[in-house]
Amino acid sequence: MSQSNIFTLMVFILIFSQSQSQSARGKDCVCELQSSDPAFPVNRLNNIEFTATQCTENITSEKMTEIDRLVLGLQHRIRQLLDNVSMLEREDNGNLYAAVSLRIIELELAEIQDLLDKLNRTTNNYQQLSVQAAAELQQMENTMTELEKFDHTQVMVRQRENQHIKRDLEHCRADLNSTSPAPTLSAGYCDSGLMANVSGPKTYSLTVYGTSYSFGAWGRDANPAPGDENKYWLVVLSSSNVFGNFIRQYSSLSTIILGIGPTDTYISSSNPTTNTIQGPNMVMYANALYYNCYNIYSVCQFNLTTRAVSTVALPSDTGYNNKFSFGHLGTTYGYTDMDFATDESGVYVIYATTSNYGNVVISKVETSNPPVVGQTWITSLHKKTVTNTFMVCGVLYATRYVDKEIEEIFYYYDTKTKEERYDLRIHIKKLQTNIKYMNYDPRDHLLYVFSDAYIVTHEIMF
Ligand SMILES: *[C@@H]1O[C@H](CO)[C@@H](O)[C@H](O)[C@H]1NC(C)=O
Ligand SMILES: *[C@@H]1O[C@H](CO)[C@@H](O)[C@H](O)[C@H]1NC(C)=O
Ligand SMILES: *[C@@H]1O[C@H](CO)[C@@H](O)[C@H](O)[C@H]1NC(C)=O
Ligand SMILES: *[C@@H]1O[C@H](CO)[C@@H](O)[C@H](O)[C@H]1NC(C)=O
Ligand SMILES: *[C@@H]1O[C@H](CO)[C@@H](O)[C@H](O)[C@H]1NC(C)=O
Ligand SMILES: *[C@@H]1O[C@H](CO)[C@@H](O)[C@H](O)[C@H]1NC(C)=O
Repeated sequence: MSQSNIFTLMVFILIFSQSQSQSARGKDCVCELQSSDPAFPVNRLNNIEFTATQCTENITSEKMTEIDRLVLGLQHRIRQLLDNVSMLEREDNGNLYAAVSLRIIELELAEIQDLLDKLNRTTNNYQQLSVQAAAELQQMENTMTELEKFDHTQVMVRQRENQHIKRDLEHCRADLNSTSPAPTLSAGYCDSGLMANVSGPKTYSLTVYGTSYSFGAWGRDANPAPGDENKYWLVVLSSSNVFGNFIRQYSSLSTIILGIGPTDTYISSSNPTTNTIQGPNMVMYANALYYNCYNIYSVCQFNLTTRAVSTVALPSDTGYNNKFSFGHLGTTYGYTDMDFATDESGVYVIYATTSNYGNVVISKVETSNPPVVGQTWITSLHKKTVTNTFMVCGVLYATRYVDKEIEEIFYYYDTKTKEERYDLRIHIKKLQTNIKYMNYDPRDHLLYVFSDAYIVTHEIMF
């Protein structure tokens, strides 16, 4: 597609300009560049980015959040790609390009393409979108097409095609080997049907903290007070990657991604101390934060209105202080003993007990004040082999680490039928290696992920 080629071309331009300057520094040869081609019109690319920004600013009404999200995602992807291209330039020490960076850029390009397609589809659906914005989009598309002709070489396009073919081949082989039948499962108690797939990253960005904190959590309140529907919250484990003592809130998705105008609410002035946050897997529900209280096997409920903390204890043989944490071979995600989850029906806590041999136990958390541990389900899923869990429609899903780029949803437990399956094969495409936090928002059907300091969303398809 057109925009892929532009970036391809930019890579070459950057590499080429560097090798030019290197010869100049050597002072032993003179090189004259003669080109009959017009110069690459960087300005026009900048214009497109500017227009995309304007579109975001102009279309901010609530019903346009979908477009908002897509355009924001697109902008971030473009910026990310530019960063990666400069990186590639620096890495050019005779090898022309480093395979690793190429791989990253290829992933980025695929994501950008995906976002553009989605944006186009969404735009088509919204008839109320102003004619002008639609025209701008058309203009952007035309410019992109025009810019395409600057890619003469096609070299990287072919390389990318090769890689795609190789990957498809591997998938094909793996599929041929698989003999298990397609799972036929109930869909919990919702009408939406069983989860069928998970999209690639829809938004992907660093927080205002950059890469300082690699453990944290974010999302929206699953049951917001009127007026708080669009608020986003963010908690980073600011002490030893284990403890946190304040909640940061933003008025919208754009402001959390750009890091503008946060409000901080402190649970305690020092960290760690009684009732501060331990471990990343918390949730927000009805303006209260649910999390593993510091140094004990209890659930903490922090009321953001009153700043009061209420607690309820789990069974006394519940793992805490890094006893039954999530992880995969060779890696433990520290202090992830308790994982809170929201779904259409409220709040759950996922943990493991000694009496259940370190296997996962699910308890409903009644969100009264103080909170109460409600119905409980016992599973055979060993908690330490799982990287994270989330709930959708009363069904628990668990993920495992496949490789740096893929996390797999492999496990299913339906709290309604008590049915348990280990053969789901839904892949989640990652841009960072480790997923430290994952939770489902029943309002927008997005998975909110905190992955090595990046905040990411994925869409669940039913
Ligand atoms: C956004 O709105 C401003 C002011 O209303 C207008 O000048 C501009 O052309 C609009 N841009 C787009 C891309 O619709
Ligand atoms: C790509 O750019 C992002 C910053 O935008 C950076 O975090 C990431 O490490 C880069 N990837 C590579 C391979 O350089
Ligand atoms: C956008 O969607 C329309 C209608 O579905 C289609 O004709 C057009 O080719 C699409 N544009 C792009 C850039 O995919
Ligand atoms: C498929 O199975 C064959 C024989 O069991 C094995 O040699 C091969 O490595 C497998 N391929 C994949 C991609 O798993
Ligand atoms: C699931 O989604 C991914 C990413 O959007 C896509 O590549 C894949 O083909 C989908 N799988 C199925 C079974 O639909
Ligand atoms: C938090 O405090 C407010 C004000 O007292 C109260 O209305 C609300 O129910 C409390 N929330 C919880 C979960 O207890």
